[in-house]
Amino acid sequence: MNVSDLIEDGVKEILGARKGRQFYERLSEPERAVRMNLNENMLVDRSFSSTILMEASENTDARRYPVVKGGLALKAISENVGLWEDEVMVGNGSDEILDLVAKVFVGRGEGLVVDPTFEMYRFYVGLAGGRTKQVLISKNFEMEADDVLSAVNERTKVIFICSPNNPTGKQFSKDEVLRVVEESDRLIVLDEAYVDFAPYSLAREATKYHNLLVLRTFSKAFGLAGLRIGYGVGSSEIIEWLRAAQSPFSVNSVAQGACRLVLENRRVYDSFVKKTIEERRYLMAELEMVNGIKPFESDANFILIKVIGGDVTSEDVCKRLRSAGIEVRDRGNLPMLKNCLRVTVAERESNLKFVKELEKAMKGSS
Ligand SMILES: Cc1ncc(COP(=O)(O)O)c(C=O)c1O
Repeated sequence: MNVSDLIEDGVKEILGARKGRQFYERLSEPERAVRMNLNENMLVDRSFSSTILMEASENTDARRYPVVKGGLALKAISENVGLWEDEVMVGNGSDEILDLVAKVFVGRGEGLVVDPTFEMYRFYVGLAGGRTKQVLISKNFEMEADDVLSAVNERTKVIFICSPNNPTGKQFSKDEVLRVVEESDRLIVLDEAYVDFAPYSLAREATKYHNLLVLRTFSKAFGLAGLRIGYGVGSSEIIEWLRAAQSPFSVNSVAQGACRLVLENRRVYDSFVKKTIEERRYLMAELEMVNGIKPFESDANFILIKVIGGDVTSEDVCKRLRSAGIEVRDRGNLPMLKNCLRVTVAERESNLKFVKELEKAMKGSS
C-alpha cells in the first residue's frame, strides 16, 4: 500500500502544493534580523507584555488541563464585548475557528472567497473536502456586494470576507458587507483580524444576524501571536455547532489568563494600537518618496506595495531584501496583485532599515 493513495484527490491537491515547501526555510526565520512578513505587532511594548505573561503563568498550574474550550478567556471576552457566553467562542488562534467553520459548515460543499485574500480560507475548505469559488474585488480594492451575491449558487455554504482585507489592507464598506449578510442567505464569516487598526467593527452587531460570524484575534493588536488565541462572535446557533466540534483543550491556560489580563488593561493596549497607526502613517509617507513603487493606503498593520519601476519583479525585490536580512511577503502570485509585496508596520528602526534597503533594491533594478 502507498499511503498517498489513502488521501482523497481534493485533499491531495490542496496538500500537494504545500507538502515539504517552506517548512525548513521557515524554521530558520526567527533568527533573521528583521521579520516584516507575518503582520505580528512589534509595537506592543515588550516589557508590558512580559509582565502580563508572567502574571498569567504564575496563576497557572500547568499540571492541570486548561479550562475547557477557552472558558476563562470566554468569560473575559463576553463581558468585554457585552455579549452572552453562548454568543462567543474562543479558539487556538482565529485559525482554529476557520478550520472548524470549514469542517462543520462547508464540508463537501463550496466556500466563496473574495480574492485576493488570506490564503487559509481556501486551505481549510480544501482540507475539509470542499471546493472554493472565487469572486474578485474591484480595481480600487473594494468589495462589490452585487458581484458576491451573483456568484452564490446552490452549492455555496459559506462566504469568507476579510475586512480589512489581507493583503490589500483596505476595509470594505460596511453597507456592502451588510448587503451580503442580509441578501445572500448563507453563512458569512467576516474575518476582522486587523480591525483594531481600522475605522469600524461589526463584532458588537454580529448577533443581530442569524448568519454572521465575526472573527477577531489577539495575535495582531494585542501582540499575542505566540500564545495562539482568537475568538468568534455570532448567534448562539452558529457558536454552539462550532463549539461542539472543537477539541476540549485547544486553548492553553497561559493564553486564557493573558487574554483576561490584556482586556483588563485595554487602555494600555489602545495606546499601542494608536502608536501602530502613527507608525503606519510614517512608513507610508516614507514609501511615497521611494522611486519605482506604489504603496496602497492601509487600514491594517501592514502595507501593500506594487513594484512598478525598472525591470525588477516583486520576487526579485523580496530576494534582495532577504539577502539584506529583511523578510517581507511576496504577494505577486495572487490574482490582481502582480508585482506586489506586503510589509508589516514594525518599530521605527526596522521601518527605516526596510525603506533604505528597498531604495537600494529599486536602484539596483534600473
Ligand atoms: C486575515 C487573517 N485572519 C486570520 C489570521 C490568523 O490569526 P490567528 O493568529 O488568530 O490564528 C491571520 C494571520 O495572519 C490573518 O491574516
